Amino acid sequence: MERRIYLDNASTTYVSNEVLTEMLPCFNTLYGNAGALHSLGRDAVAIIDRARDRIKTAINAKKANEIYFTSGGTEADNWAILGVAHANVNKGKHIITSQIEHHAVLHACQQLEKEGFEVTYLPVDENGLVKLPELLHAIKKDTTLISIMSVNNEVGTIQNIKAIAKIAHDYGILFHTDAVQAIGNVKIDVQDMEIDLLSMSAHKLHGPKGVGALYVKNGVRIDPITYGGESQERGKRSGTENVPSIAGFGKAVEIANRNYIINNKKLKSVRDYFLEKLSEKLEHFQVNGHPHQKTNAILNVSFYGIEGESIMMLLDLAGICVSTASACTSKSLLPSHVLKAMGVPDEIAQSSVRFSFGTNISKSDVDYVVEQLQKVVAKLRAISPVQAGRF
Ligand SMILES: Cc1ncc(COP(=O)(O)O)c(C=O)c1O
Repeated sequence: MERRIYLDNASTTYVSNEVLTEMLPCFNTLYGNAGALHSLGRDAVAIIDRARDRIKTAINAKKANEIYFTSGGTEADNWAILGVAHANVNKGKHIITSQIEHHAVLHACQQLEKEGFEVTYLPVDENGLVKLPELLHAIKKDTTLISIMSVNNEVGTIQNIKAIAKIAHDYGILFHTDAVQAIGNVKIDVQDMEIDLLSMSAHKLHGPKGVGALYVKNGVRIDPITYGGESQERGKRSGTENVPSIAGFGKAVEIANRNYIINNKKLKSVRDYFLEKLSEKLEHFQVNGHPHQKTNAILNVSFYGIEGESIMMLLDLAGICVSTASACTSKSLLPSHVLKAMGVPDEIAQSSVRFSFGTNISKSDVDYVVEQLQKVVAKLRAISPVQAGRF
C-alpha cells in the first residue's frame, strides 16, 4: 500500500479502537431508546449518563446535567447563539463575537441580524488575538452575549478566555466559547474560567462524527432550537439520543483528558521538528498565528508565490493529507476570513496550508512530508508565471 500521512486532524480524526469498542454494543445489543421505560431503555439512559459524567469531569462542570448532547459542534454553536439571544431578548438585542469565529457561530449571528439583532464582530491583532480594549469598547447596555472561540481552527491561536469571561461577567453579560478545537489540546475548566456555555465536538478527538455537546451552566436562560421530544435532554434538545455516538464521545473525552499531558508533549515535539525541518529545507514562507499562544496541534504556513490549493493537491498525490483552510471552506477559493482578519494580504493568505498533527505522526513521517513539500513548492514556483525567477 502506498504511504499515507494524515496531517488534517483539525478537520477530523480517526475513531480510536477504545472508542469503537465502547460504541459497538450500542448498535446491536444495548440498542434501546433512552425514552423507553423498559430495561433496554434504562440501559441506554445509563450509557448516556456515563458519557455525560465523563464529559462533566473533563471540563470540570459542577453538575453532569449541565451537559446537553447535540449533533455536533455546529449545532452546539448555533444553539448557544440563537438560544441565548432569543431567551434573553427582554434584556437586549446586542451580541458580540469575533471576525475569526467558525462559520457555525458567524452564520448563526448573521441569522440573528436578519431577525433584527445587532452583532459586533470584533477585529483581532496580527496573531489572531481578540483585543480586550476593543471588547470593552464594544459592550453596550443591551449586550446579552459574548461568544469568542477558545482555539482557532485555522491558525491555532488560543484566546485569553478567562479574561474575556471576566469582562463579560463584570457587565452582567453571558459568555459562550466554541471549544471544538480546544478539548484535548488545551486545559478547559469551565468553573475556573467562568464559562457559561461551551461547545464541543467528538470527531476532533478520535470520537465519531455527528455528535457533540453544549455545556450550559445551570441557571443560564436558553431557548431550544429543536422541538418535538420534550422528555429528551431535559426538554432542551429534542431528538432521539444518538446512544452509540454519545457513548463514543464520552470515552473519547475521557481518554483525551487522561492523556492530555503526554499527547501535548508528543504534538509539540512533532510540530517543533516539522518547523525545524521546514526552516532547514525551504525558504520564503511564514507561519501564521500566535508565535507561542497556540495549540501544538495546528501549524498554518504560507508559501510565498504559490497557491495553497495547488500545494494541497500535489501533496495529496504523494499520499499526504493537509488542508488549506477550515474543512467547511476548503472547497472555496476565497481567502480565509481568519487570515484576512489578521491582516494577512490576500496573496499570502491564498498561499497558506494548514498542517494539523496527530500523536501517531513520527519524525520519519515528518521527514517524508518536508521532502515532498520541498519538491512540490519548487515545482510550483518554477511553473508559476508570476513567480518565475523570483524565488
Ligand atoms: C472551531 C470549530 N467550531 C465548530 C466546528 C463544527 O463542528 P462539527 O463538525 O462537529 O459540526 C468546527 C469543525 O471544523 C470547528 O473547527
